[in-house]
Amino acid sequence: MFKEEVYINRRESLRKSISNGLILILGNVDSPMNYPANPFHFRQDSDFLYFFGLDLQGLAGIMDIDQGKDYIFGDDVDVEDIIWMGPQPSVKDLAAKVGVKNTMPMGKLADFIEEAKSAGRVIHFLPPYRGENKMTLGALLKENPCQMKSKASEELIKSVVALRSYKQALEIQEIEKAVDIAYDMHTTAMQMCKPGVKEQEIFGAIEGIALAHGMGPSFPIILSINGQTLHNHSHDNILTKGRMMVTDAGAETNMHYASDITRTTPVGGKFDSRQKEIYEIVLEANTKAIESAGPGKSNKELHLEACKVLTRGLKELGIMKGDVDEAVARGAHALFMPHGLGHMMGLDVHDMEGLGESYVGYNDEVKRSDQFGLAFLRFALPFKPGHVFTIEPGCYFIPELMGKWKAERLHSEFINYSKAEQYLDFGGVRIEDDVLITETGHKVLGKPIPKEIEEIEAICS
Ligand code: GLY
Ligand code: MN
Ligand code: MN
Repeated sequence: MFKEEVYINRRESLRKSISNGLILILGNVDSPMNYPANPFHFRQDSDFLYFFGLDLQGLAGIMDIDQGKDYIFGDDVDVEDIIWMGPQPSVKDLAAKVGVKNTMPMGKLADFIEEAKSAGRVIHFLPPYRGENKMTLGALLKENPCQMKSKASEELIKSVVALRSYKQALEIQEIEKAVDIAYDMHTTAMQMCKPGVKEQEIFGAIEGIALAHGMGPSFPIILSINGQTLHNHSHDNILTKGRMMVTDAGAETNMHYASDITRTTPVGGKFDSRQKEIYEIVLEANTKAIESAGPGKSNKELHLEACKVLTRGLKELGIMKGDVDEAVARGAHALFMPHGLGHMMGLDVHDMEGLGESYVGYNDEVKRSDQFGLAFLRFALPFKPGHVFTIEPGCYFIPELMGKWKAERLHSEFINYSKAEQYLDFGGVRIEDDVLITETGHKVLGKPIPKEIEEIEAICS
């Protein structure tokens, strides 16, 4: 946990941006996996962590904007709990660690909310994303639980996004720790990337590294020789020579800050000439985008620049053709990179996505495109110092997508389908780094993880 002033100051900043009423932030509760006493790994809600810091289940935080008072609701353990859990600090002691003086048992929360409601006060809450908290909110507010997401407070969402988008120095340190854990995960994966090895063995080894040094992976690890499937969560292949292994994996620190790194390694550790050609294009898109990231530029501009690097490279290989700028403007490159260049990262790997992607990455001036590919860009706004982003260009040969586009003769003025089809057994390449926007430019966070061809070949050997 950070020092109590961190949480006091964050709540103070939030208080200033909300006009009146109560802010209710529910922490998460244990959720059963296959029977009640066998829960999933507990993950606290990121907004609760940000403002109230406590990493335990069964708590709720209230900020009374009108009275300037903060509360934590939660229940102290009794002796029967202690038999199973050991002694636990009281809710009062826990609350004091995050600068909250007022505590109440959970059983009083409904009355507290009811009293505020009957006095006509506004209850601000964030969109719930878990069934348990939808039910709790529905019960507290006497509303349909299924509608709680749409009834969330836009004023609160925008205020939280405005705060969490700018990372403090102590948050950057945590993110760098998360990248350092990812360094060990990725270099281990590279060293294990040999013919005959099961994807599952590598997946297990690197998940173990994330657990040994932090809270585990920051999202389900993507690790596959079928890298053309963007979020491939199956690990049931055996590595074979000629394929490339895409590893998209990050760690969560003990303070719950994320890293999100992708590396692509040729099975056996040596790039063949075809792999080198595609890899170098993606590497150039990654390094050029990183070089050009900084204040004064938007992530949409950066995305389009990276798409042009990709298109130019594919044109040199004869896979694409025609005018590069026009091909990108029309979205032809999205056959090979159907996703956005990157997303914000912090306490969540896709930071604040639970609050609504469009509140984080778009605003009244910058609207989401409806073009295939560009529509999936999670953040399009101008960069500001304190933003933390991933930069993750890729190049994929997705047989089903190529088959569909070819049948429709889609963008056939920009795509040389007969050449592109020669790559249908290729898979994909993605290279992802985590970057902080500074006053003057950017900083790539954490210990640099090998990505140059020679570096990867050296690690693998
Ligand atoms: N880790 C999934 C992504 O890169 O967005
Ligand atoms: Mn990733
Ligand atoms: Mn990512």
